[in-house]
Amino acid sequence: MRRCVCPGSFDPVTNGHLDVIERASRLYDEVTVGVLVNATKTSLFEVGERIEMLREATADLGNVVVDSFEGLLVDYCRDRDIPVVVKGLRAVSDFDYELQMSQMNNRLTGLETLFVATNPEYSFLSSSLVKDVAKWGGDVTGLVPEPVRLRFATRLQ
Ligand code: PNS
Repeated sequence: MRRCVCPGSFDPVTNGHLDVIERASRLYDEVTVGVLVNATKTSLFEVGERIEMLREATADLGNVVVDSFEGLLVDYCRDRDIPVVVKGLRAVSDFDYELQMSQMNNRLTGLETLFVATNPEYSFLSSSLVKDVAKWGGDVTGLVPEPVRLRFATRLQ
């Protein structure tokens, strides 16, 4: 079975993330969306809520599973026999850090990274920008999956 992981903070998942997950689900037999548990980083949504939103948003994709992980991504992947990370690249500004992480991951355990070019419709999109827009009452329709938009509406009212 060909497996990959789409890792991230997903605080919250955006339509840009979802586009990458959907495309990975066409390339691999099983896609694990790995939500990073990072106790030192302040987040708007709890890990449990982020997982719930991801599960709702990917419910129609039969080969996508959502999980959380703590520690090194390479350890998580090695334990689950996942040889590939799939990541979206929005712009050149993403490239430096993503390249470093992919090279470090490859150096550590041989984990490979496949970069997909983000759909230009979403190249400006990030979780932090979406949170800022929602916080000040802006409309995030079309930027995030519907379960996320609804949670923003209740969370920030
Ligand atoms: O959505 P993000 O915050 O940009 O995702 C970053 C993520 C989760 C992919 C990255 O921080 C990560 O893999 N963290 C796990 C810890 C780890 O493996 N660090 C070494 C990376 S080379």
